[in-house]
Amino acid sequence: MKENELLNVLKEHGQEHIVEAYQKLDDKGKEKLAAQIERIDWSIVEMAGHKELAQERGKLEPLSALEVTEIEKNKAKYEEIGLDAIRAGKVGAVLLAGGQGTRLGSDGPKGKYNIGLTKEVFIFERLIRNLLDVTDKAGCFVPLYVMTSDKNHDETVAFFAEKDFFGYPEEFVKFFKQEMAPSVDFQGKLYMESADSLSLSPNGNGGWFYSMAVTGVLKDVKARGVEWLNIFAVDNVLQRIADPVFVGATIDSGCVSGAKVVRKADPEEKIGVLCLEDGRPSIVEYYEMTEEIINSREADGELSYNFGVILNYLFRVEQLEEIANQKMTVHVVEKKIPFIDENGTLVKPESPNGYKFELLVLDMIHMFENCLSYEVVRDYEFAPIKNKTGVDSVESARALLQKNGVEL
Ligand code: UTP
Repeated sequence: MKENELLNVLKEHGQEHIVEAYQKLDDKGKEKLAAQIERIDWSIVEMAGHKELAQERGKLEPLSALEVTEIEKNKAKYEEIGLDAIRAGKVGAVLLAGGQGTRLGSDGPKGKYNIGLTKEVFIFERLIRNLLDVTDKAGCFVPLYVMTSDKNHDETVAFFAEKDFFGYPEEFVKFFKQEMAPSVDFQGKLYMESADSLSLSPNGNGGWFYSMAVTGVLKDVKARGVEWLNIFAVDNVLQRIADPVFVGATIDSGCVSGAKVVRKADPEEKIGVLCLEDGRPSIVEYYEMTEEIINSREADGELSYNFGVILNYLFRVEQLEEIANQKMTVHVVEKKIPFIDENGTLVKPESPNGYKFELLVLDMIHMFENCLSYEVVRDYEFAPIKNKTGVDSVESARALLQKNGVEL
């Protein structure tokens, strides 16, 4: 884009302060800032003024799950189907590790966090060990795609290299960066984090497939003949990755996607629930549900909306490609955004001072025709690390790991 065009675009969108900042820069600075501005999706930035236009939900109905008792009965069959798919090279895994882990308060990649007590046990290490359980059984490796962001890519790659990929073969691991999104103040003005850079942050965990495509990593998926991708979060240290029983059950069900779910601890638990919305699978957040829906019960007394997602999904690559160009919901989220003030001083606010724009992987579920809701036992498969202490913390995850026989 030519310089005058670039400056006009900024003015058209009411960003005169960025024009001013740009004009103060030397050629190198101008080039850097211009490249960031050119990548801005203005339709997203404009959503800051329409935060109140939260999406109306369609008609919600319960979606029954394949429950643990049923899975146990057919476990051998499902596992065989899953292991066959893995051995045929049809299953890949995608680790979403582009987040900033702000609640944990550690700078750098969350996967580098050491959760050990008597020895070093890194989050990434735990995840790779979990995956190795499966690959040992299958007798072959599963391609692992690791999503990072500009904020943590180099550190993540260097850490894997330093730790010899935790025993996983390097040729089966590929890193790719997710997109970054700008942040704005409550009036929609772009924030800057330094004289020649906008305040950019990872655009949420929902853009992973788009990022796989634009970075070229999808070519590897296709070249290897991978038909299913298992998407999982960095912070659940107990999760089973490329779980053959889950893979087998999903294939056997004929569904084009699958989601691991846990039974809600109580009706009010703050967890996204997998259900049907206008006849299609959908994940509805706890704050989007009415009291009536939250407390609704089936004839047998069970909660109608009883199963919450744990960010472990299985998607068919063919269907992912079909929906790749569909627009995803952009979530406008109030956050604390570091910025430089008019004197060029970096300010780290104590309370939210603007909006970030995020895409969420849970919104993808509604783009699929169907989804197998697959129940897992919380204590065996769900130990998320979001906070330092308390609920979903390093402490609670350690206790669950120890309960499952993991030495820390
Ligand atoms: P969370 O929503 O818990 O966010 O991410 P977070 O960034 O890790 O932590 P907080 O909210 O700042 O404390 C759930 C999963 O999605 C990934 C995270 O790395 C984690 O595996 N994620 C999140 C991304 O890959 N990219 C993002 O932009 C955001």
